[in-house]
Amino acid sequence: MKSMRWFAAVAAVVVSCLAFAGSALTLPADWRSWQHVKSMVIPDKAHGLYGFHHVYVHPKALAAYQKGKGYPEGALLAVPFYDVVVENGATSQGPLLKVAVMKRDKTATATGGWLYGAFDSTGKALELDARAGCHTCHEAKKDRDFVFSEWTP
Ligand code: HEC
Repeated sequence: MKSMRWFAAVAAVVVSCLAFAGSALTLPADWRSWQHVKSMVIPDKAHGLYGFHHVYVHPKALAAYQKGKGYPEGALLAVPFYDVVVENGATSQGPLLKVAVMKRDKTATATGGWLYGAFDSTGKALELDARAGCHTCHEAKKDRDFVFSEWTP
């Protein structure tokens, strides 16, 4: 009987870890093949959003992105950041620096129903405070489901 209780306790811990793993964000392997919708370059190295960035929208999130709201559960948006290389009068995109990701998840109530994640160029998760480091800024776009960028034809 004693061993049964021990087993139940271990099982409960395993189940709660699995639940946690399910809600944490990992870098989607296929973000590079999603719809590219826009680009921006911030050449100032001292700026927090330095680099070339492109916004990529998962095919299942594209209709909502074009409308500006109504993202379905699981909708994914990604922003890769690349280094800025200035050479012979041309400004071009250098190596990948990091990728920022938003995923629609109705359980993420403290951050407007979005999970936020950032990953280095190898896909390793960077430590971040999703609320203070990401959502407080995105909160400005509450009327557009907290998404800043807009679709242009
Ligand atoms: C200082 C304000 C600010 C902070 C902090 C910020 N973002 Fe953003 N984010 C923006 C802006 C502005 C855009 C639109 C960029 C563009 O138009 O190219 C954006 C765009 C995005 C997008 C594409 C969808 C959209 O809103 O257009 C994702 C994904 C994203 N950010 C993730 C993150 C993550 C993850 C963090 C935290 C690590 C974060 N952001 C922190 C301002 C911010």
